[in-house]
Amino acid sequence: MLGWKELEENCKNCQRCSLSDTRHNVVFGCGVPNAEVMFIGEGPGEQEDLQGIPFVGRAGRLLDEMLEVIDLSRDKNIYIANMVKCRPPKNRDPLSVEQDACIDFLRNQVALIRPKIIVCLGRIAATKLIKSDLKITKEHGLWFEKAGIQMMAMYHPAAILRDPTKRPDAFVDLKILQEKIKEICQTTYSTTDTEKN
Ligand code: URA
Repeated sequence: MLGWKELEENCKNCQRCSLSDTRHNVVFGCGVPNAEVMFIGEGPGEQEDLQGIPFVGRAGRLLDEMLEVIDLSRDKNIYIANMVKCRPPKNRDPLSVEQDACIDFLRNQVALIRPKIIVCLGRIAATKLIKSDLKITKEHGLWFEKAGIQMMAMYHPAAILRDPTKRPDAFVDLKILQEKIKEICQTTYSTTDTEKN
């Protein structure tokens, strides 16, 4: 296992798959390095590739707004990373071979952060990290325990933008997450008076 500095350096120089040929920036991850809650998306889009920061496009803005409802933010108490650290051309799904080439970076990030909760944003992260046959439409908002970590899938914010009828489910999932945080986390969420609707 590498420390943060070396890991980020290795990741930024990575050429393990062909996504490195077309990237502008490696999107390593951002947030609080000892966060109790970690969010894992799919892969960088156009804005993320240009800025080198995860979830900064339209979907990212929605994610930040949703997180704020339950008092979470990348500046304060969570860490955000992706399954693949380089943008798949035209925002296609990352291929299995690309995810496999990148997974050790994510594993190392998880090992350093040691989160109590991992939220998978969308099908790609959920089927790779929770279970390969997970059906996001049926199993979003459910808890799975893996290696002592509580894991849940939520709809990807881009899917919510594409299909706003998913919004109510997404907000129920946020409340489910908030309850779990209250139950098992210490530093991330200590008050009960921040509930907003
Ligand atoms: N979608 C993702 O899955 N990750 C990002 O960083 C941005 C959009």
